[in-house]
Parts: sequence; C-alpha cells; structure tokens
Amino acid sequence: MNDIASAFRRFADIDGTQDPLYVAICRTVADSPALLALMDEAPPTQRKPNLLLAALHDRVLAGADHPLRDYYPSAGGTRMPDAELPALLADFAAVESAVLVEHLRHGSTQTNETGRCAVLWLALQQIARIGGRQDLALLDFGCSAGLNLAVDQYRYDYGSFQCGAAGAPVAIACRWLGDAPPPAEGDWRLAARRGIDPAPIDVNDEAAVRWLRACLWPHDRERAARLDAAVALARRGHFDVRRADDCIAQIEPWLDSLPPGVQPVLFNSWVLYYFDAASLVRLRAVVGRLARERGLVWLGAEGPGVRPSGLALPPLAPGAEASTLWTLEMQDREPTALAWSHPHGRWVQWVA
Ligand SMILES: C[S@@+](CC[C@H](N)C(=O)[O-])C[C@H]1O[C@@H](n2cnc3c(N)ncnc32)[C@H](O)[C@@H]1O
Repeated sequence: MNDIASAFRRFADIDGTQDPLYVAICRTVADSPALLALMDEAPPTQRKPNLLLAALHDRVLAGADHPLRDYYPSAGGTRMPDAELPALLADFAAVESAVLVEHLRHGSTQTNETGRCAVLWLALQQIARIGGRQDLALLDFGCSAGLNLAVDQYRYDYGSFQCGAAGAPVAIACRWLGDAPPPAEGDWRLAARRGIDPAPIDVNDEAAVRWLRACLWPHDRERAARLDAAVALARRGHFDVRRADDCIAQIEPWLDSLPPGVQPVLFNSWVLYYFDAASLVRLRAVVGRLARERGLVWLGAEGPGVRPSGLALPPLAPGAEASTLWTLEMQDREPTALAWSHPHGRWVQWVA
C-alpha cells in the first residue's frame, strides 16, 4: 500500500501537475487507506494512478449524479479543488464502487492521439517523395480506434506554415521547433488504409469511446474536443479497423490485399513498449523480410529506447526533450531519424 500511495504522491507532484483536479485527487487517495484499498482490485501491473483516475472520470462522464462532477470541466464543472473534495471523493467512490471495481479489475488505460498526425502527415509526404510513389497504403499497427487513419483528413498548423486538408473540422496545432525549414512539399494520397489492434476501440460503441475520453485529463478541453471531432469523422469514414490477437501475422496478408503500384507503409506509434524482447525480435525479422521482398516501409513513432539498432540519436533543439522519436526504415537505405516530437504532437523538431 505504501508503494501505491507513493505512486499517487508522485503523480500529484510530478506527472500530473498540469491538472489541478488530478493533483488534488491523487493527494487525497494517497492519504486514504479506503481509496488506496480500491487499487488492490487491479492486477498488480495495472495498479497505477491513471487507471483509477480514468475509472472515476468514466463514471462522471457516464452522468453520475453527484456533486463530485462539479469539479470536472469535462462534465461542465467549474469548481476548483477545495476542502470538501476529499469527503466528496470518498462518498463518490463508495456510491460507484461496483463499477469502479469492474474497471480496476478488467480495464487498462487506452488512448488514441490524433495530435501525432501532425508528424505522420509530414512523414508520409517524405516517404512519397523519397520512394517516388504518390499512392501510399497505410497500416496503422496498434491503431486503437483508428483515428490516425484519417491523417489526410485533418488540417495542421505549425505556426510558420500550414498543410493538410484545408477547411477540415479537425485542426491540429503543432509548434515547429529547431532550425530546419519546412519539408519540401509533394503530392501523395492514401490509396488504402487499415488499422489492426489486439483490442481496437469501436468508434460506434459509446461506452468504449467514453473510456477513451475518460483516459484524457478533465482540464484538457482542447484534446477532448479534438478527440470528439476525430471520432465523428471516423464514424462517417467507416475505416477498416480489425482486431487481431497476433498483429504481426497480419502484416503480410494486408500486403497481399493491396492494389498494385502502391507504396505500403507500416506505422506504429507508442505501441512497441507493449512488446517483450522476443516479440520485438520477431517483428523486426518479419518487417525486414517484407521490406526486402515486398518493399514495405516502416515508420515508427516510439520512445528512443526501441529505435532501429545502430541509429544515433539526433541532437535536440532548445525546448525539445527526448520523447517520441520518428524513424524510417526503407529497403536499401540505412534507418533514419525523421523527427523528435512531443508524445501528443504538441511540437515537432524535424531532423530528416
Ligand atoms: C498507447 S496506444 C497508441 C494507440 C495509437 N497508436 C496512437 O498513437 O494513438 C497503444 C496501442 O497498442 C495496442 N497494442 C498493444 N499490444 C499490441 C500488440 N502486441 N500488437 C499491436 N498493437 C498492440 C493497444 O491495444 C493500444 O491500442
């Protein structure tokens, strides 16, 4: 219990400081044996503050009629954390305990971050330019709800330049860091797109989409609005999102399904940390073979620890920090780094 209390204190002091409600909730949980005991319901690997915070948020978004919702801007609340919050939180947790326990026993936090498309868009443009093929086919590996399959339907604002689908309902702002000029423009289009995931989110399942919302922080209204707009777009787009227990085994059948002449691109963003060492070795071997035999291009947006072997880390611009490294592996070329970016795409430092 001490370890779990420390994790909540750490979240309040370091990880969650941008959200005043989460700071207050985490401090309250850390000091409350009853609330901490709730975490015993979660499997040992899932006993993290994020899971309880999302479970509480989900109940609020589901419409729970309780004064605790007044603290959640995501539910229209305007009340800032105050001395009454601990008692209200304890009461809310008692009233909602049955559903909270279900979430803790069986849930895990899940996100689908469309902000990453601000870099994905540039990377696809680069792939089309280098590879000399304008028709791209995108396989979003670990796609969650498949919202990043609409990369060509969002618009992007990097401050000094804009691109993407003019007039699109989803607008993504991404600060351009460093000295690199904007990448050269080039025409490309997505001729085919598919998402695969062992646990995909069905955008037409209200409870599943609410869980995606619940995993965002209640004060971050911009991210929530973007999620809602992207979900609305995906509902109209009917993207091909498939569940697969073994996603690696699905890469080659996907290649077989493509029209001739397209450039296949395998894309994964914040997925490989789920992989153990053996699965990573297997993925690299399969993708390496398909690159040689079928011209598959591999675009990764992951933590720098899982970058292609031998790839040196590019230097960081002032204001950037080592977070998401975008890497490109193409047949007959050395692996390259394309960019550093904020994990949610708030900034990009183009290094290609
Ligand atoms: C943090 S989410 C990222 C989702 C999406 N790529 C994005 O950038 O928003 C990680 C995703 O990886 C998926 N995942 C977990 N294990 C996987 C595996 N073995 N193969 C493929 N995807 C996996 C999860 O289900 C989840 O949807």
